[in-house]
Amino acid sequence: MKILIVGSGGREHALLWKISQSKRVNKIFAAPGNPGMKQLADLVDIKPTSIIELADFAQEEKIDLTVVGPEQPLALGIVDEFNNRNLKIFGPTQKSAMIETSKSFAKEFMRKNNIPTPGFKVFNSANEALEYFLKAPFPLVIKADGLAAGKGVYICRKRDEAVAAIKEIMLEGKFGQSGERVVIEEFLAGQEMTFMAVCDGKRIFPLATSMDYKKALEGDNGPNTGGMGAISPAPQISKDLFNRIMKTIIQPTVSGLKFENKEYKGLLYAGLMITRDGPKVLEFNARFGDPETQVVLMRLKSDLVDILEGSADENLFDIVADWEENVSGCVVLAAKGYPQKYASGHRIQGLERAKSLGVEIFHAGTAQGKDGLLSSGGRVLNVCATAPSMKEAMDKIYNGISFITFNDMIFRRDIGLNRK
Ligand code: AMP
Ligand code: GLY
Repeated sequence: MKILIVGSGGREHALLWKISQSKRVNKIFAAPGNPGMKQLADLVDIKPTSIIELADFAQEEKIDLTVVGPEQPLALGIVDEFNNRNLKIFGPTQKSAMIETSKSFAKEFMRKNNIPTPGFKVFNSANEALEYFLKAPFPLVIKADGLAAGKGVYICRKRDEAVAAIKEIMLEGKFGQSGERVVIEEFLAGQEMTFMAVCDGKRIFPLATSMDYKKALEGDNGPNTGGMGAISPAPQISKDLFNRIMKTIIQPTVSGLKFENKEYKGLLYAGLMITRDGPKVLEFNARFGDPETQVVLMRLKSDLVDILEGSADENLFDIVADWEENVSGCVVLAAKGYPQKYASGHRIQGLERAKSLGVEIFHAGTAQGKDGLLSSGGRVLNVCATAPSMKEAMDKIYNGISFITFNDMIFRRDIGLNRK
């Protein structure tokens, strides 16, 4: 088989790493990919948002399956374009991807289908939102309706914070069109976890659970990021909780979308808060999580291509879920300043030495310079490992990291801490 992977982050590198282990695959392309992916795939210089060019490429190269990493191409309808040309692709259509691309749609959908989620109201004007704050209970959470690269969520303890958030999102247009509407929701306390499942429109193939560390700084301080690390399984998971999530969240979501003619094919990502009243949905994503995918795929023994193709073919019947008993962890090496302003172009060293100690390294923001590898993004590298216990996995990872250097490198030292 010939596979095309769309995207260039740590998630896509992990997808490539796993796909390359399939006996069914003999050629892989990545568009645009990154220098780490170059060892396993041919890099193609097409942006993930250039969906016509990607479809042209898939047609010319006779690609058997295209796998989409990021959300932007899904929002632009890459799956619809490929479907129209009879090209096989893993991911939801534009209208099914609304579960991620419109928070107000996702919330109304959950309300209609009795899927547990924080209470909420949708606002189309800043004035109405500002008026609501006069009597609203605090803390509360304000979310830009559309895609905002994980930055459109504001947790507001007091009214002036909420007023400032509305100014940024709705009046100053920080997220453009994505902020013309906001969802304001109840603040929930609890522990977060990530539940991902591959769906084929009807059937569901749940993946191992995970948890990511969203805050930039140790002890869960600082601003929200795309994720500074992850572990799998999620520490709080039990058989009962797993079954409850499937029954009250994942199954009704897939059947509810089918009922609305938005049959869900691809990866369904539920960001959950485990509260005293059980699991509730904070957000859905229409794609693999980053860095959760890295830790989940490190534990997958089954052939990933069978699973992804089973989704695209509406044929997730006989796929066996085979997972390693070992647990896994991932620490993100980022550039100082991320998720705000950071510098790039710094020389990266020590990767081979780190790898020789048994860690897997997935590239994210790296670029090939004349004299070697350079940093080129906020999240630069993902250092991952599996082991019988979380302590052993994290020791392996932090030991590997001690050999990696680049100017302004930062990372959290508390990923997987105090986990057995
Ligand atoms: P989201 O992109 O909607 O998942 O939000 C990003 C992060 O904000 C989540 O991972 C949580 O840490 C936090 N968050 C979002 N919604 C809530 C909520 N209703 N209550 C508490 N924390 C929240
Ligand atoms: N790590 C969270 C996400 O991928 O959205």
